[in-house]
Amino acid sequence: MALEYLPGFGNDFETEALPGALPQGQNSPQRCPYGLYAEQLSGSPFTAPRGSNERSWLYRIRPSVRHIGAFRRFDLPFWKSAPHVVEHGLPLGQLRWDPVSLPDEQLTFLTGMRTMTTAGDVYSQTGMAAHIYLINAPMQDEYFYNADGELMLVPDHGRLRIATELGIMEIGPAEIAVLPRGLKFTVAPLDGTARGYICENYGAKFTLPERGPIGANCLANSRDFKTPVAAFEDRDVKARVVVKWCGQFHETMINHSPLDVVAWHGNYAPYKYDLRTFSPVGAILFDHPDPSIFTVLTAPTGEAGTANVDFVIFPERWLVAEHSFRPPWYHMNIMSEFMGLIYGQYDAKEHGFAPGGMSLHNCMLPHGPDAEAFEKASTAELKPQKLSNTMAFMFETRLPQLLTQYAADLPSLQPDYPACWAGLEKKFDGTPGVK
Ligand SMILES: [Fe+2]
Repeated sequence: MALEYLPGFGNDFETEALPGALPQGQNSPQRCPYGLYAEQLSGSPFTAPRGSNERSWLYRIRPSVRHIGAFRRFDLPFWKSAPHVVEHGLPLGQLRWDPVSLPDEQLTFLTGMRTMTTAGDVYSQTGMAAHIYLINAPMQDEYFYNADGELMLVPDHGRLRIATELGIMEIGPAEIAVLPRGLKFTVAPLDGTARGYICENYGAKFTLPERGPIGANCLANSRDFKTPVAAFEDRDVKARVVVKWCGQFHETMINHSPLDVVAWHGNYAPYKYDLRTFSPVGAILFDHPDPSIFTVLTAPTGEAGTANVDFVIFPERWLVAEHSFRPPWYHMNIMSEFMGLIYGQYDAKEHGFAPGGMSLHNCMLPHGPDAEAFEKASTAELKPQKLSNTMAFMFETRLPQLLTQYAADLPSLQPDYPACWAGLEKKFDGTPGVK
């Protein structure tokens, strides 16, 4: 059966899986319908301003205090949190990886998580981690929540079914899902294997960027974000609940599924988004704007215009600028850029950046089109050109991204990525009038 979703970003949603399960006119009746318990899930401090205040009311079979027991510490050695200990000794440099092979060993969403970089500090709720996931098995009677931040899933291969406390979502390549801090969920691959990228955002929640003079439309439009309708499991089974908390992993056993929310209302909820519904805005005469014009979602900090993380995409679009160098220009950036390619080919790199691959251009490390892309773009006839079959993305953070041991040891780390710029020879000719 097709899953149902509620449209809108950050709406005050309401949904019930049984008729009349949602109390009307109040949040906490003396007795809730169907013998349910009322529980509030707060994603912001109670006192946050209205514009950023986020909470949902959950009407559930058992309160969450019954969904944990005595905890036991355990380790997921490949899932790192900031600040992690850096021992690999890899010198500074621009880095790029070929896609990581799909797994032979059995891996779930939890055991298949591989951290590439971390930034900031999970204890002070600043920064992020960039992960990849490699999955070929469902989480079996196993549920997870992350106290350290929200998770943005960006698949490049295979679909995922994500059953959460607030409902069920399915996503595939070119879609993303965002799972709020503290929300319990379980993940299963729908096509045997699944691979993708994850941004674990320790900071303020992702929100839509301001549009300024662009106005009320385009970029990511609110109605294209989809939140699941209420769905619940009334299942008495031995289940394992795993919690990530300040970079540590804790497990506890319970005797029922914690996905027992029959109805809920509020604005703290998971959502998905199809990146192909992003309406790009760009140059229509010459030059091109900064890549921030492609920001889908931004996680702000207290400093205006300075994101903890921006999620930026480079989607299919037309290039029409006259007398302009059309690919991204050369630059150095205070922000640190982790890139991935979901499908197709990225316009600044003709070769070497494959779907499922990654690159890392850290704080104040120069980068830009490779020699091949430069030559082509400098001499091309500037007709209107459609960039088809391309969907790259960037997790861009104000904080430097530190590489994990896993990322440094990956066999797919390209040994000499900076050589892609070696062909950019001196073209300077000081003779007056030369162009
Ligand atoms: Fe850049």
